[in-house]
Amino acid sequence: MSFGKMPIANGFLTEKEFQNEYFFELKTAVCPECHMFQLVDQPEDTQLFHDHYAYFASASSTMREHFRLLAERVMADELKGDNPFVVEVGSNDGIMLRNFMKAGVRHLGVEPSANVAQAAIDEGMNVKVSYFNKETAEEIIAEQGKADAILGGNVIGHIPYFHSVASGIKTLLKDDGVFIFENAYLGSVISRGSYDQIYDEHVFTFSCLSVQNAFARHGMELVDAEQLEVHGGSMRYTVTHKGARPVSGRLTKQIAWEKELGLDGHEVYQKFRENCERLGSDFLTLLQKLKSEGKRVAGYGAAAKSTTILNYSNVTSDLIEFIQDTTPTKQGKFSPGIHIPITDRSRFVESYPDYTVLFAWNLAEEIMTKEKDYSAQGGKWILLNPDVRIVEGI
Ligand code: TYD
Repeated sequence: MSFGKMPIANGFLTEKEFQNEYFFELKTAVCPECHMFQLVDQPEDTQLFHDHYAYFASASSTMREHFRLLAERVMADELKGDNPFVVEVGSNDGIMLRNFMKAGVRHLGVEPSANVAQAAIDEGMNVKVSYFNKETAEEIIAEQGKADAILGGNVIGHIPYFHSVASGIKTLLKDDGVFIFENAYLGSVISRGSYDQIYDEHVFTFSCLSVQNAFARHGMELVDAEQLEVHGGSMRYTVTHKGARPVSGRLTKQIAWEKELGLDGHEVYQKFRENCERLGSDFLTLLQKLKSEGKRVAGYGAAAKSTTILNYSNVTSDLIEFIQDTTPTKQGKFSPGIHIPITDRSRFVESYPDYTVLFAWNLAEEIMTKEKDYSAQGGKWILLNPDVRIVEGI
């Protein structure tokens, strides 16, 4: 399906850059054999991950705690041998890796965006500024040996050359090691209609079915899948060398559920497309109605996801006054494609809008708790899925 012309989702830009803004057609397809849901074309990865990458994972306390707990679990269950070694693919600003550093565990992050990698290096973590692929895996083995655990938080689905990554994992992982990674889950995207998870960085939106098939081609096996609430519905996959561990009961159940939903068929994707069209048009209609009533509308959280919503729904910059975001690299810039100003939080607090679109809807609890006063003073939130609706907050 086509989502039309899209700019780079994290490509926040200055007014001077408007004229040369890069656009591409955002289109998805599903492989009829392995059931992988994927983008048809992706901009060059150097357009996406570079020395001024805008996304700093540690901006959210929910996500900091989430990855701290995962690191604790990996240390307790998977790093029992002598001088264990953990590698994280796409370590961003060190949101998960710092927990291994603090515990004195031998660790290495592999992160291509130099600016976010530097934030982790400045904190004392070991980070290789590089893309992860087969060659990187071989370099790591030569320098430090094989890994007991390889981790990836919201990154494996971002990498277009999946097979090079998978063969790198296969090479780098010890015989009894684990590869644990998590990504937004196709089952949640389809059932919630959260189509804003689809953007340039998310080349693959995984399901258990597709992950199982993809790693089987590399002599590896999906042995467990754990459903998570983060990022609006994610899945944590555990992959090992084939036959190294038994397959969990919950994975078997999840695969049965995916087949029931029809992820190995065709019709479910047709219905998803119709649902996206409905959500996009409901959002635009609501914003136009509020504008005609003279209401002030702002956005909260200039998430990459907001780029898909705004551009797909054909929202114009007159419908949303500003989007507040706590990330300094986004502030003072404009949203990709639509060019809504991104401001710091003070703009929001100093003059509360009547309605606020919660673009970072996956962090609703954290944000609505922080902004209790807004709700107490009558401010209303606009939520985007599974239906476009107005709520009063918590
Ligand atoms: P996020 O949902 O992590 O994701 P993505 O870019 O992957 O779609 O983005 C949340 C954005 O919201 C991020 O730019 C930081 C911002 N944010 C705030 O502005 N205030 C907050 O209180 C929180 C928690 C996040």
